Amino acid sequence: MNILDIISKKRDKMELSKEEIDYFVNGYTNNEITDYQAAALIMAIYLNGMTSKEITYLSLAMAYSGEVLDLTKLGENVVDKHSTGGIGDKITLILMPIIAALGIPVAKMSGKGLGFTGGTVDKLESIPGYNTQISVDEFIENVDKIGISLIGQTLNLAPADKKIYALRDSISCVENIPLIASSIMSKKIASGANKLVLEVTVGNGAFMKNIEDAKKLSETMINIGTLAGKETVCVLTNMDEPLGYSIGNSLEVIEAAEALQGDMEDDVKQVVLELGSYMIKLAGHGDNIEENKSKILDCIDSGKAYIKFLELIENQGGDVSYINDVSKFENAKYVVPVLSEKSGYIKSIDAEKLGKISCNLGAGRVKKEDVIDNQVGLIINKKIGDKIEENDAIGIIHANDEIKLKNAIDEFKQAFNICEEYVEKPNVILGIMA
Ligand code: URA
Repeated sequence: MNILDIISKKRDKMELSKEEIDYFVNGYTNNEITDYQAAALIMAIYLNGMTSKEITYLSLAMAYSGEVLDLTKLGENVVDKHSTGGIGDKITLILMPIIAALGIPVAKMSGKGLGFTGGTVDKLESIPGYNTQISVDEFIENVDKIGISLIGQTLNLAPADKKIYALRDSISCVENIPLIASSIMSKKIASGANKLVLEVTVGNGAFMKNIEDAKKLSETMINIGTLAGKETVCVLTNMDEPLGYSIGNSLEVIEAAEALQGDMEDDVKQVVLELGSYMIKLAGHGDNIEENKSKILDCIDSGKAYIKFLELIENQGGDVSYINDVSKFENAKYVVPVLSEKSGYIKSIDAEKLGKISCNLGAGRVKKEDVIDNQVGLIINKKIGDKIEENDAIGIIHANDEIKLKNAIDEFKQAFNICEEYVEKPNVILGIMA
């Protein structure tokens, strides 16, 4: 077998065998196949697609390119969640303590942000002292001890995906259903849970720009999950505007702390309730989705979810005094409101643009070596359907650099489309697929 034959086979729209996909994944991970050969194959896949067999083989080959965790010690049903990425998506920070407080073990590895979407690890690391890089043994011990641990992906979790994802990013091949599905599912297979709830985001701030593509991606991931023996549910959610009111690392931690104390934005609440109720169901803790939603609301109202959040942070070395008194998070140098130039209703918001503004202020990485600035980001005061008067603040920019601030103000205004007619609020939950 050789890589040139594999590239030409895919170039000529033929199906690759399991052996050929394994050969590529192993060879590329071990540096025996060059970047330019891998790039040619990935581009051929991007242009010519993959069959469902090929997608499953690719997911499994990438999952088994490194360590595959065994979480059976934690229980018969271990549930994990994942989002295909969004703007202001702090759902993991809010939902996972709730699930743990309901007695369901939470052992979750999350990624760093790259480009306009944020990453849970960066948000957690904005809490002084919080350690996302503990060993796998300590990770499992923590779940055993307090029912929850949230960490970064270990170096050896699906290393092939890490390499192939970086390559895709550098050759404009990220937005592709077979490649996104296999990338996500390889990590989920390697992280050891046997039940998965996946949030598939749809809209201008997501990889999937329309509902048809989101359904195809969901179907593809459910299919891989089934073949890998992992029951999978996809919740399709709207990402035509940011989720919640904040974008940026410590700003999102503050929003999460408030949400867990009962002060939760409506769109965040809907996503938390929907994803959470399916997690409870897959964990075997209740089949009735509406009853599960009540359990989540009770768990927040009783304060148990917030206490679990504090316990999680403390157990991983974080300073909980910042959560109990969020004013301890130091503000950025410039905190500047952006005023509306006219009155009307918010018709649309360019969520991707807001993600890019926040990233350019320093909240995200343009290149993977970039250092994150935890203080900067955006506060969104107005969402789609909200009424606004001239000179009302549409939002607030938190910046540490004057030039970046100036650029951000103009772009922030451009991201909001205001019209005179009344605008309905959009649905947040767009569908469930299982
Ligand atoms: N998230 C992933 O983990 N992989 C992708 O390819 C896209 C989003």
